[in-house]
Amino acid sequence: MTITAPAAPQTETDASGLPAWFTHDRFGMFIHWGLYALPARHEWVKNHERITDEDYRKYFDHFDPDLFDPTDWARRAREAGMKYAVLTTKHHEGFALWDSQLTDYKATNTRFGRDIVREFVDAFRAEGIRIGFYHSLIDWHHPDFTIDGVHPRRDDSPEEIARLQDGRDMARYREYLHGQVEELLTGYGRIDYLFYDFSYRDNDHEDRWGGKGRDDWGSEELMALTKRLQPGIIVNDRLDIPGDIVTPEQYQPDKPMEVDGVPVPWEACQTFNGSWGYDRDNQDVKSVDLLVRMLVDGVSNNGNMLLNVGPTGRGEFDPVARRSLAGIGEWMHQHARSVYGAGPSSFRAPAGTVYTQRGDRLYLHLFTWPFEHVHLPDLAGKVVYAQLLNDASEVRYREIPPGTRAQNTGLGGQPAGTLTLTLPIVRPDVAVPVVELFLQED
Ligand code: GLC
Repeated sequence: MTITAPAAPQTETDASGLPAWFTHDRFGMFIHWGLYALPARHEWVKNHERITDEDYRKYFDHFDPDLFDPTDWARRAREAGMKYAVLTTKHHEGFALWDSQLTDYKATNTRFGRDIVREFVDAFRAEGIRIGFYHSLIDWHHPDFTIDGVHPRRDDSPEEIARLQDGRDMARYREYLHGQVEELLTGYGRIDYLFYDFSYRDNDHEDRWGGKGRDDWGSEELMALTKRLQPGIIVNDRLDIPGDIVTPEQYQPDKPMEVDGVPVPWEACQTFNGSWGYDRDNQDVKSVDLLVRMLVDGVSNNGNMLLNVGPTGRGEFDPVARRSLAGIGEWMHQHARSVYGAGPSSFRAPAGTVYTQRGDRLYLHLFTWPFEHVHLPDLAGKVVYAQLLNDASEVRYREIPPGTRAQNTGLGGQPAGTLTLTLPIVRPDVAVPVVELFLQED
């Protein structure tokens, strides 16, 4: 199933100064994959269950995702309408998914023996999908990363922690962190987006063993290194210094986001079930129509959605992910033009709907299906044609003169400037019905 999109801009920047592709493409795939796919109990399993390095080693020893096929992953992303993809190169567990020369704790040293980052980049680039990396600042395996409020060893005895802390040197860890980022940004061609994760210098983690932030990571230098090695790359806001975009997580802002009163580009990262890593027994699954509503709701507030998949220990997307991506793709196949290149509208959308707008096209997304009519404020005289986007069937409309009283079957009671659409009784069989309104050209 192909998703046709208006020709995406390549190199120019948008109004916020960001590379224009980001706020054009709107929809990306997040992929959380690592050793944690084997316990299959969330990517924080080492933290949640206070697992020692020794006990965690069995996952390294048994990591062998023999069904890993990055071309299948990339095809599913493309068919879902996702225009960029972000893969965890290293998560908090410290396991490197590429052939890093700075550690033995890497995929190429497991019995699987392959450079996953290399294969991800090649396969997704071949599908025309832009490349992003997620890179964890946190590292619960590295011998120099000091014990802190989120470390798996945080509850050990003071004596044990003193023993573990002895000799740890965050300056050496910073060298390692920056060195691995350099490997990733010089070894795999053009990288469009880097999602660093995460700083916790002054939040509740600090109540024990302290948190970590910009000084621990060397964030200013790391940002400068990132921008130097990959000019034009987009970097998120989790280095504990300002980034290019704001990244709300597992919630949907209800208005365009601002920093100090200034609108900022933003991207909400979301999951199918609340877990980033594969979480076998988690049944808390979002429906396809909820995920589509989240996507378009974000676009209506000038945001992107980065929707996560946690592949299994065999290297495949699980059935829930496969079905959800296919369902979203079915909607995007007919409705992508209400997403790509679209953004907020200055018109006020009626209750139970959201607008997205792209030039002289206004898209009414109907989250509930009304009985026969929907009244659009301030659009009288501004619309030249209307259709259901899924099948291009005409939607007729009228402007009810102000002061008209509703009586018998006559419509009325609407303020001046209202445009009233007449909708079919039967809701179209799509995740979210959309009416495409052709506005008078200015
Ligand atoms: C949080 C979680 C991390 C996940 C990230 C995704 O920071 O700690 O596990 O990778 O969210 O944005």
